[in-house]
Amino acid sequence: MCGIIGYKGNKDGNEVVLKGLHSLEYRGYDSWGIASVHENEIKIIKKVGQIGHIKLKDLGFPKSNLALGHTRWATHGGVSEINAHPHLSKNKKIVVVHNGIVENFQELRRFLEEQGFEFISETDSEIFPHLIEYFMEQKINFEGAVRRTLNKIEGSFAIVAINLESKEMVGARHGSPLVAGIGNGEFFLASDVPPFLAYTKKAVYLDDGELTIINKHIKFINIETGKEIKKQHQTIEWDVEQAKKGKYPHFMLKEINEQKDTIKLAAEQPPELIKKVTKMIEDARGVFFVGCGTSYHACVSAAYVFAKISKIHVNVVIASEFSEYEDFLTDKTLVVALSQSGETADLLEAIRTAKKHNCKTFSVVNVVGSSLTRLCDRNIMMNAGPEICVLSTKSYTSQLTILLLLAYSVAGKLGKAKELIDTVSKSVGEIIDTNLKKLKQLATKIKDATDFFLIGRGLAFPSALEGALKIKEISYIHAEGFAGAELKHGTIALIEDGVPVFVLSTPATRHLILSNAMEIKSRGGYIIGIDSEDNDVFDYFIKVPDVGNAEPILWIIPIQIFSYYIALARGCDPDKPRNLAKSVTVK
Ligand code: F6R
Repeated sequence: MCGIIGYKGNKDGNEVVLKGLHSLEYRGYDSWGIASVHENEIKIIKKVGQIGHIKLKDLGFPKSNLALGHTRWATHGGVSEINAHPHLSKNKKIVVVHNGIVENFQELRRFLEEQGFEFISETDSEIFPHLIEYFMEQKINFEGAVRRTLNKIEGSFAIVAINLESKEMVGARHGSPLVAGIGNGEFFLASDVPPFLAYTKKAVYLDDGELTIINKHIKFINIETGKEIKKQHQTIEWDVEQAKKGKYPHFMLKEINEQKDTIKLAAEQPPELIKKVTKMIEDARGVFFVGCGTSYHACVSAAYVFAKISKIHVNVVIASEFSEYEDFLTDKTLVVALSQSGETADLLEAIRTAKKHNCKTFSVVNVVGSSLTRLCDRNIMMNAGPEICVLSTKSYTSQLTILLLLAYSVAGKLGKAKELIDTVSKSVGEIIDTNLKKLKQLATKIKDATDFFLIGRGLAFPSALEGALKIKEISYIHAEGFAGAELKHGTIALIEDGVPVFVLSTPATRHLILSNAMEIKSRGGYIIGIDSEDNDVFDYFIKVPDVGNAEPILWIIPIQIFSYYIALARGCDPDKPRNLAKSVTVK
């Protein structure tokens, strides 16, 4: 987690870094800090809280062509100004920002303290500037000292470091993302591309074990050997406007609305790629779908659509639990990774486990150039554009769309998938536009509920899980999703007067799910039905068209809208829920 950025060029680095941090805030927002490098000193500002409305003048820095910054999601050390990054070395000439975790930090800290280095913060990250200084004291140049430092680190890192004397900037990665932006006589280093999209679209993604050193030019180096590496740049196709809120008050609302287009875009896949991936599924002996959070819920949905449409069984595993299945992995196994960011540490670890056993792999992923894309044999891109709100919305429906495409492709009915997706994407606009006002009213009416339950059978079950996650992560109200019949095996004890229950009903499951709804209603539950037709058991009805196996794509949309409005009704920030970060890059 955490967002890092560095700038060296002819613009005011303070401004570039400040704006960059605004766009990286989705990666963490406990605290922030900026270092501005001047002729003889490094000026630092650090604050607790979100960088949100901080303006350039608030920094109080003179102009500088060299600067770096950090927005934090705390791991080691509480949320405080002292623990916020950047961190300085003892002689105040080396400044570093770090994203990741130093696992051998206690041992390194002890070593440095014995050498007379005094630690100011409780963070593991403060190791970096001190250790770099320690090596430089031994007459090793900046680049060499950074390499020696990184070779001592166990754990994960993406760092940006600046040396006051040489005015060089270094970036390096192992396990956390880092991308270099190459402009006209200027260079950017950042956790993600939005901070430099306004200035350049030329990007070089660093791989694990690589370092870049920037003085007048940029050079890439292998951290272990010190040998130079030739790297190709990529042209980023995302538009700077896509990474802005535009007319919307929040990214979440913007991204919910974007589903009017993104579902269709997700289905626009190169036919050759779909053919190859279909063959991978057909040839596999054992298929695993892995993901975390929302992406895991899409995996659960995969189990249903592949069973129903392709008549094949796929295993679904939460990425962090995947190593428990190692004994079943062979070179015939296929592991499919679902991820918006492509940087989720637990998922990357699952794919590394798969690779260790020579499994075949492919991903369904949104972020071009992300770590996952470089680990997997093949990648299906979601084409959803940047998803900035911490909550996954459009990426979930894009994942579901691609899964549907694949399930039908394996069944030899790709044309049917395209037809369904076309119908679905035509309905999305209507569902959004007719429900915005209504769901705002509903959310306002029931904003003080202390529990929400969501039930669905078959294809609707994963949507119930995902709906519950949406409500709880943004409104901080307890919410749980269940398979329709499961509630009465215990949790129905929590149903009392007025407890809101979303009932996701489909033509195929209607007769049973409506009896489950009745059981809840008899105990006082307030039933919010999502279905293609109304029913007496519903206290509140949300209509979605009957689109057969593509229904999961539609059911979640009203729940996303409801979640957005209940967050607003409760005074919560929908884009930045407490304690969360968009990319979970720690295990
Ligand atoms: C929930 C949410 C998270 C992510 C999870 C995986 O709204 O956003 O649960 O789905 O952290 O992230 P990705 O898909 O980037 O691997």
